[in-house]
Amino acid sequence: MGKILIKNAEIITMNQNDDIFIGDILINEDRIEDIAPNLSSNSVDKVIDATHRTVIPGFVQTHIHLCQTLFRGKGDDLELLDWLKKRIWPLEAAHNEESIYYSAMLGLGEMIESGTTTIVDMETVHHTDFAFQAISQSGMRAISGKVMMDKGDEVPVGLQENTADSIQQSVDLLEKWHGHDQGRIQYAFTPRFVISCTEELLKEVSSLSDHYQVKVHTHASENKGEIEIVEAETGMRNVVYLDHIGLANERLILAHCIWLNDEEKKIIQKRGVNVSHCPGSNLKLASGIADIPHMHQDGITLSLGADGAPCNNNLNMFNEMRLAALIHKPHHGPTVMNAKEVFQMATIGGAKAVGMSHEIGSLEIGKKADLAILDLNQFHTYPSFDVDPISRIVYSATRADVETTIIDGKIVMENHIMKTIDKSL
Ligand code: GUN
Ligand code: FE
Repeated sequence: MGKILIKNAEIITMNQNDDIFIGDILINEDRIEDIAPNLSSNSVDKVIDATHRTVIPGFVQTHIHLCQTLFRGKGDDLELLDWLKKRIWPLEAAHNEESIYYSAMLGLGEMIESGTTTIVDMETVHHTDFAFQAISQSGMRAISGKVMMDKGDEVPVGLQENTADSIQQSVDLLEKWHGHDQGRIQYAFTPRFVISCTEELLKEVSSLSDHYQVKVHTHASENKGEIEIVEAETGMRNVVYLDHIGLANERLILAHCIWLNDEEKKIIQKRGVNVSHCPGSNLKLASGIADIPHMHQDGITLSLGADGAPCNNNLNMFNEMRLAALIHKPHHGPTVMNAKEVFQMATIGGAKAVGMSHEIGSLEIGKKADLAILDLNQFHTYPSFDVDPISRIVYSATRADVETTIIDGKIVMENHIMKTIDKSL
């Protein structure tokens, strides 16, 4: 690794002042040592000439299922509960060690290629160790966990687990992987959603998350049918129930949050719960449109995730950002969820959600060197040099514009060539 100097780039810092300027970034091992115009190249190991290139903080995707990458296209045109029962659960049940590993590697490759540098990932019930191995090799910064699902009649035999085993296996994985690769990998307890989990399991997850001070990552209020089941079984709405269990706090990452009522929104706001907005998945599974504009007004920590490949068909943040900016405009007007607000969700918002805004999410001295170098000189972006660069990225850029990705100071893709993942996989 050593020292890398990125020279003469347009730098979108996403710092407190939203500084954007032409300058250099000096990376020393895993961190940004300096960021300013005209830095000296004395004693650096490598210089990257970034003239006419744009450097951005790496994207933080707060809801991903690496174990589902191989299922892309196998669950099209279904709504959530049918999609899970008819397609996804049987496919997850059929996974073996090797298929989980390759599913993870394919997803990781796709995200590195499109400038994502941190993910919050949900695996399936078994073979999670092999997904962690893929994450470790890929160089991705990740918070991941084995899915927990100790309840439900329609779960295939291969996915059924009992409460004690689910917890024990999670703790074993946590002890093996949390803090691995100099802290690049973290463990999160990952109960699938309320209808797959017993109260006993969720209460234990709550106290284990307090004990280990690790994140809890789950789905909530994604689909009306799901909410009806939660209400019938618990007598409560999703978020009210999670709060009753003790899970609603700043370590909780809740994917979707589409059908929240006012009480649930207030709990999320009061307890500092993090919402992962997944617009592509929400449209494709016909789940609905989350009330992101009001949550944004209320100061809730918002971030973005592509969700799994079979509920979105792509894992890149450009797609999510564009959808996040577009879907509210017909109802709320053209300025709502503008390019900058959406870009914040994709970078510093994600960093806040994972409790790492002091380390990632913006380009600043002392922070981790997690970034992407974009070439915005292609036909679809080139004619618009006088456009705000963030607007250009949100509305026009694609994954093909990402040239180089650096995570923890390590070049994981350079000039479109993967360094850590074999593209022939
Ligand atoms: N809810 C419970 N499991 C899942 C899943 O795998 N994907 C999505 N999108 N929602 C879920
Ligand atoms: Fe999901």
